[in-house]
Amino acid sequence: MDFKNKVAVVTGGTQGIGKAVCLKLASLGANIVVNGIGSIEQAEAVKKECEAYGVQAIAVISDISSFDEAKHLMDEAVKAFGRIDILVNNAGITRDQLILRMKESDFDDVIRVNLKGCWNCMKHVSRIMTKQRYGKIISMASVVGVQGNAGQINYAASKAGIIGMTKSLAKELASRGINVNAVAPGFVDTQMTEVLDEKIKEQILAHIPFHKMASPEDIANVVAFLASDLSSYMTGQTLNVDGGMVM
Ligand SMILES: NC(=O)c1ccc[n+]([C@@H]2O[C@H](COP(=O)([O-])OP(=O)(O)OC[C@H]3O[C@@H](n4cnc5c(N)ncnc54)[C@H](O)[C@@H]3O)[C@@H](O)[C@H]2O)c1
Repeated sequence: MDFKNKVAVVTGGTQGIGKAVCLKLASLGANIVVNGIGSIEQAEAVKKECEAYGVQAIAVISDISSFDEAKHLMDEAVKAFGRIDILVNNAGITRDQLILRMKESDFDDVIRVNLKGCWNCMKHVSRIMTKQRYGKIISMASVVGVQGNAGQINYAASKAGIIGMTKSLAKELASRGINVNAVAPGFVDTQMTEVLDEKIKEQILAHIPFHKMASPEDIANVVAFLASDLSSYMTGQTLNVDGGMVM
């Protein structure tokens, strides 16, 4: 896979899966736009790690759940590099709780960041990629969006929504040379899963044929495949990367 002269925007690229995606694509030659929220230091650190591969990178702090800030992210990418070849919609949050205890704000926050944020970025990048008649949009779903999970009704809804948006946008943009796909990770070793109780972790691992969590790099490898022209005849698909958890 060769991403020389390609430009990739990775939302939530400051840690976990997003950071692994930034580094994987940079190692294969892509110029990288690292997005995150909060402090610029974490984003700048990932930018520097990307640059160590001899590519160019910029760090952009913007909350992708805001329509205008998502536009700002795409504008900054185009200002720096003149185009966007790859968008990885990776930013996501959890607010887990059983429905009887879940607050309305827990539902709204997760839908706003995971689903609306993904739509905001799809919306703004579609115009740019349509003009180029080239683009790869890869969004981070989850196996929870495929099979559901107790305590994650908000998260499951957002991830199932991403799978639906991926199929719809794939149909809209195929004629413009744009591939739209999703990855559904299973259980990945990041800060998102660090907070889980050891007992719950053991229960999850018992249902994974490989009996281990994925590394962020396991997910980044599949994102790289979908971002490359090796997958140019694939669109509207969601690839489960879950150690055999869902089949
Ligand atoms: N870790 C897992 O087991 C797992 C499994 C399936 C799917 N996923 C999905 O993969 C993606 C990455 O997960 P992770 O485990 O690396 O999570 P993480 O919590 O380690 O990282 C999330 C990233 O998203 C960013 N972010 C959060 N809200 C944002 C916003 N409004 N605007 C911009 N950036 C924002 C954070 O700054 C961070 O960089 C998420 O979409 C998550 O739902 C994770």
